[in-house]
Amino acid sequence: MTLENNEKQSTLKTVEWRDNKVVMIDQTKLPNQLVFVTYDDYNQVAEAIKTLVVRGAPAIGVSGAMGLALAALQSKSNTKEDFISDLEKAKKILFDTRPTAVNLAWGLDQIMEVANEGSSINQIKESIIEQVKKMAEDDIRINKTMGKNGSELFDNNDTVMTHCNAGGLATVGYGTALGVIRATRESGKNVKVIATETRPIQQGSRLTAFELKHDGFDVSLIPDTAVGYTMANGLVNKVVVGADRIVKTGHVFNKIGTYQVATMAKQHGIPFYVAAPLSTFDMKTNAEDVIIEMRKGSEVTSLGDKKTAPDDIEIINPAFDMTPPELISGIITEKGIAKPPFEESIKKLFDKDF
Ligand code: MRU
Repeated sequence: MTLENNEKQSTLKTVEWRDNKVVMIDQTKLPNQLVFVTYDDYNQVAEAIKTLVVRGAPAIGVSGAMGLALAALQSKSNTKEDFISDLEKAKKILFDTRPTAVNLAWGLDQIMEVANEGSSINQIKESIIEQVKKMAEDDIRINKTMGKNGSELFDNNDTVMTHCNAGGLATVGYGTALGVIRATRESGKNVKVIATETRPIQQGSRLTAFELKHDGFDVSLIPDTAVGYTMANGLVNKVVVGADRIVKTGHVFNKIGTYQVATMAKQHGIPFYVAAPLSTFDMKTNAEDVIIEMRKGSEVTSLGDKKTAPDDIEIINPAFDMTPPELISGIITEKGIAKPPFEESIKKLFDKDF
């Protein structure tokens, strides 16, 4: 690992608002190089979300909001009406980058709300900046609370499987699923992790294994095809993953392959948990209407520069899949753990005095 400094990964921020610019870790360069990119134009942030410089539902929620904050600073409009219309235009460009994680819409809507409520343009710009800084701080605080809640489900000496990257790199910091694993360790329990490689873009090997190893966890990496083997051979006690969108019925949309992991966990009687903040819940959309992002075929037909498939082959490359509620043992949030039946327990999470 050739990191350019010795800072611990867990202390780094995936995305940050600094001197009226957005600073991000370029995740496409990991695990070989730790490179930070700085943006002062919302179009650059949109491109960064689209090309996975930043990825992971909570991280793109905050990044989208910060992109919109840049758009606010870039606007030269003198009337509130024109200013709002500049923001609407930028919001659409940022929103159209990736369709599945609901956190992106959540982040953008928060900024539009602040903008619509404000009076003078200068005051609105200041309030938007305050809001994005708060969103970044809240993200870490919420992940820590979620982690603490979830840690109660894990026992000393558990080996926990996780899929994709739902760690510090998928959030501003600390992580959702990996936040639960961090909090379990912080509570004094010994925990081992099995990370799936997560083809085709390998968030598991490039990011999860990197992040956990760097933070001193006992982590083993497996190819996605070894999920059944490890479960059948008693190498896994529990599974915890993140989510990109959870609908009111408890259907969970997450990285492609999550459904296979959950099905296999059910087959072997292994508890399968999902960890996600309330900003990942979409209480309005039905499961069948959620858009699954389809990505380019070259992600499947090559490994780096090496071609691994014949030319002119049809490729199906969905970035996410849906895990039905009957495969899920519990959904860990900052407000507590929702247990089946999910329609009821999720509704409770959103009750004011829960
Ligand atoms: O395509 P990605 O890397 O953005 O997909 C990320 C995932 O599927 C994560 O598991 C999910 O966003 C949860 S992150 C806390």
